[in-house]
Amino acid sequence: MHNTLIVFASNHGTVERCARELFKLIEGKVDLCNLNRRESLPDLMSYDTIIVGGSIHYGKIQKVIADFCKSNQTVLAGKRLGLFINCLYTGEKAAQQLERAFPESLARHALVRDYFGGELYKQKMNFWERFITWQIVRSEGLEPLLFKDKIARFAQIISSYHHEKA
Ligand SMILES: Cc1cc2nc3c(=O)[nH]c(=O)nc-3n(C[C@H](O)[C@H](O)[C@H](O)COP(=O)(O)O)c2cc1C
Repeated sequence: MHNTLIVFASNHGTVERCARELFKLIEGKVDLCNLNRRESLPDLMSYDTIIVGGSIHYGKIQKVIADFCKSNQTVLAGKRLGLFINCLYTGEKAAQQLERAFPESLARHALVRDYFGGELYKQKMNFWERFITWQIVRSEGLEPLLFKDKIARFAQIISSYHHEKA
């Protein structure tokens, strides 16, 4: 039986939606850990696969995710690893943000790494956040949406790797 842990942080809910989608799609036993809720971290050693997901704000992944990666770098480097971000940008810019989001050694080690797109929950934003995101969306012609196909592909890669090992 394979064991996967999805560790994530989500400001307004997008990363959480993606984590739950992965939870449904990945084969075997899957646990979720939301670092924003200060849920106590389960024992990482009991998982063979760990997925880390966060979102990009002002070009950076959440500090709680950056700190998690830093302090658990050695353990994560010994696991089957998947890394994802949510962000509004796509293409080159999203790839750059993904590149900077996780330590290089983990990025190189990961089985799969991807960006899943972004959403905007206006009712959860303050005035400044609405203004900033409106500017980004307008000036760059971005569309807030999630790439369901990328999420499915990510889950498939994680699951098919399980088959190889089985
Ligand atoms: C204040 C603010 C700043 C943001 N900055 C960026 C950014 O620099 N680059 C980007 O691609 N997306 C940016 N976004 C979009 C978020 O990454 C996107 O809304 C994502 O869905 C947030 O996920 P979460 O609600 O799970 O944290 C920003 C969003 C907000 C609200």
